[in-house]
Amino acid sequence: MEISSLRVNGQRLKTTLEEMARIGGTPGGGVHRLALSDEDRHARDLFLKWLREINLEVVVDEMGNIFGKRLGKNPNLPPVLSGSHLDTQPKGGRFDGILGVMGVLEVLRTLQENRVETERTVMIVNWTNEEGTRFTPAMLGSGVWAGVLDRDWAYCRTDILGKKFGEELERIGYKGKQPAKRGPVHAYFEFHIEQGPILEKIGKTIGIPKGILGISWYDIFVEGKANQAGPTPMEVRNDALCAAAEMILKANELPARMGGNMVSTVGEIHNFPNSRNIIPGQVRFTLDVRSWDHDLMGRATEEIRKDFLGISEKRGCPVRMEEVWRIRPTVFDPDLVRKVGEAANQLGYFPHPMVSGAGHDAALVSQVCPTAMIFVPSIGGRSHVEVEDTRWEDCEAGANVLLHSILQSAGC
Ligand code: HGY
Ligand code: MN
Ligand code: MN
Repeated sequence: MEISSLRVNGQRLKTTLEEMARIGGTPGGGVHRLALSDEDRHARDLFLKWLREINLEVVVDEMGNIFGKRLGKNPNLPPVLSGSHLDTQPKGGRFDGILGVMGVLEVLRTLQENRVETERTVMIVNWTNEEGTRFTPAMLGSGVWAGVLDRDWAYCRTDILGKKFGEELERIGYKGKQPAKRGPVHAYFEFHIEQGPILEKIGKTIGIPKGILGISWYDIFVEGKANQAGPTPMEVRNDALCAAAEMILKANELPARMGGNMVSTVGEIHNFPNSRNIIPGQVRFTLDVRSWDHDLMGRATEEIRKDFLGISEKRGCPVRMEEVWRIRPTVFDPDLVRKVGEAANQLGYFPHPMVSGAGHDAALVSQVCPTAMIFVPSIGGRSHVEVEDTRWEDCEAGANVLLHSILQSAGC
């Protein structure tokens, strides 16, 4: 078969995604598959089975990153790598991350059944703990592999129940022996849903990000004085939840104050002792700030820190703001981005250039090798929710752009 007319099998991609979505599937049609949970283990087991069915050489590294290798004619050349993640948000969607792993699997199945031999080895990867919702920060697996994070530090990260990453990885049987250390990679491609409204709004099937917003994550601790809700006069209260509420609204106003090109989100909050007739004593909440402008993000952090201190003094509630994670804006390899665009054009999609608001493992991998991404639309711009959805024909279209991007890069 003429390489340029090669296409993936969209129906098989659909049934594969649907089978994977049943692991941790929720009644609302989403997926609950937190990193290193039993559901994650089952997904990994199924993924390994599929890799072995097409005779890939499988490696699990010390961070539980799973690699599948399809040897090229010249195995000494640095390989082409492509993948994403199988872990999800609590009550997350069926496509975020999963489409990027199943998409490469479909590409490899297509190469296999058409007996296509590539010059370079082609590798698939499932990165551990991309979401960062159970173990912060996000992208722990790709971060250690890229040499940006330390393995033992990652092993000690704990979830809200105090369970350690390293112990959970061992418990599910995916703490591999292979060092989680990058090797030479010729190019990395990540296929992903956009998770936003742009492509659907402009009626485009394919988006090609030039990069990813910078991200800063903080934990904010507010200390008040718990007391009986009845006898305590209003004027003597140090109500931690009211102080936090004022702070949260200030955080929400931050992007407008900093002139735009920024988003800020408080997504998680814990109130103690959290009883209806006790004045809240402590509050912990999270802050996620993102921008394409790294300096602006730095200035915003100083602004919000001042705001929090002012509210803290006014209410007599000491506050502590801890930086949990910071990653600079990512700029992908322009030459590889251009090549993905050419592959999309040849398939008749005329892709939309954009920036990714969502974080991806590609942000870490791009620090060590040329990297590019392929986006397909999210219906209603929704993601990280059970209703997350993408049209099957768009999944197939994106997988075909991925197929020809990989073929162009791996040579055949
Ligand atoms: O936070 C993100 O954008 C990604 O889902 N980890
Ligand atoms: Mn993702
Ligand atoms: Mn996500």
